[in-house]
Amino acid sequence: MKWDIHQFETLESTNATALLCPVGTVVMAESQTAGRGRYGRTWQSPKGNLYMSLVVPDFGKDNYALPFLTAVAVADSLPGFEISLKWPNDVLLSGKKLAGILIEKADDKLVVGIGVNVMTSPTDGVLYPTANLEGRLRPMTLAKRILLQYNTLLDLLQKKGFKEIRKRWLSYATNLHKPISIHLADAEFQGIFKGIDAKGALLLKQKSGTRTLNVGDVFFNLNKDK
Ligand code: BTN
Repeated sequence: MKWDIHQFETLESTNATALLCPVGTVVMAESQTAGRGRYGRTWQSPKGNLYMSLVVPDFGKDNYALPFLTAVAVADSLPGFEISLKWPNDVLLSGKKLAGILIEKADDKLVVGIGVNVMTSPTDGVLYPTANLEGRLRPMTLAKRILLQYNTLLDLLQKKGFKEIRKRWLSYATNLHKPISIHLADAEFQGIFKGIDAKGALLLKQKSGTRTLNVGDVFFNLNKDK
């Protein structure tokens, strides 16, 4: 993919702007006034961090691969940092949330929003402990790395299918074969994290058998507050 980068000082949300742009566009902003998180949450977006949205084609039945591909692209772009991944697409630094990914769909395209805490990370009102890169990279340097890696992984997906992306995602996965709890809007499940299936669903081993989950927030410490 040939990326066409557009930079803004401030936007409401790079995802919102990207939804109006053609495939291949990358929208970046130094800050966002209404950054969007998953499940309608807010993504705090002060200056200093990376906020970018990539407009990619709708891959139809293969769309499920994108959250994983995106998380791996971010992880691969941060060599030398203690990076791990939490299902489905949180990027952790030393076990704390460093980056979030929000994929939104328009009629004929997808917008992949990536937020990385480069300089600062929120402490108030966060669901999960957060981390930042302490400014050790410039947002634009990181953005360029991610775009390069995105192309490599899109190529891999096309040639080898989700199998290879899944393998790479699992190589970064945190708490594999360990107890986790997963919170859904109206339920909570606990069990052993057994990885992801061929469509990216989370496999949770419970006494009654293995449960396959498609949505939810994963937590590792069973005693942690919701
Ligand atoms: C999450 O809840 O973990 C996902 C957060 C995604 C934040 C990024 S920042 C760039 C892009 N624009 C947005 O409004 N959200 C995404």
